[in-house]
Amino acid sequence: MPLDDTQLDRYRQEGYLVVDSLFAPAEIEVLLAAFARDARVEGPQRILEEDGTGVRAVYASHLRQPEFADLVRSPRVLGVARQLLDDELYLYQLKINAKPALGGERWAWHQDFPAWRIMDDLPAPRLVNVAVFLDDVTEFNGPVVYVPGSHQAGTLADTRRGPARSAQHLDPDDIALRPDQLAGLMGRHGMVSPKGPAGTVVFFSPQIVHGSAQNMSPHARRLLILTFNEVTNQPRHRGAPRAEYLVGRDTTPLVVAGGTLTGAAR
Ligand code: SIN
Ligand code: MN
Repeated sequence: MPLDDTQLDRYRQEGYLVVDSLFAPAEIEVLLAAFARDARVEGPQRILEEDGTGVRAVYASHLRQPEFADLVRSPRVLGVARQLLDDELYLYQLKINAKPALGGERWAWHQDFPAWRIMDDLPAPRLVNVAVFLDDVTEFNGPVVYVPGSHQAGTLADTRRGPARSAQHLDPDDIALRPDQLAGLMGRHGMVSPKGPAGTVVFFSPQIVHGSAQNMSPHARRLLILTFNEVTNQPRHRGAPRAEYLVGRDTTPLVVAGGTLTGAAR
């Protein structure tokens, strides 16, 4: 499913691109079953909501569940990511932001690249995010909101703010943008919140400003985000590298493989 020139131009201009129903319902069922298993695995890769009642995020499910390892190499994910970047790619990070029903908390307004520059000394924003809707996304369950075109504003945060919200990962709260920065960008560019059925995919730039509100609905909003980095843009890690669940260590160039996600034993 290669992107056409109109889609590529839209991604470059807006900093994001939506492809409706890129994965079929049966494929999403495969991923949800794998996530149900993975969300029960205790460890630092599993981050709970602050009130301890639900899972906020799970990192690196591809290291434990083969269904996600297959997804990483899928033509619809890796193939498209290759079109959006210039070099060969490896997986920098994979996370599932679970946003449980009736209370999954907000994600503060931020850009992703500052997190990786501050924490991993990543040289340049030569990455792409691939966000796969694991649930139907509506206006009620906390869709990600983007400021289109804001990826062209450069890197807007260069230090962490105050004490870390979590010892397990860098929560966007730690690099949240200031109201004056947001008001200017939103005044110029507006906001969009892609919604649609499970299986829809949003490709988005590591520099686009984005965030999301609390889940006000009785339905979870599980969102899987794969981040690919160019193999020539590896982190320089001033100190010890962060844990592997946060920063991929296998920098071998990925090769596109597979077709329909079936979850069949390999
Ligand atoms: C969210 O899951 O709503 C936030 C996603 C992100 O920050 O990349
Ligand atoms: Mn983000």
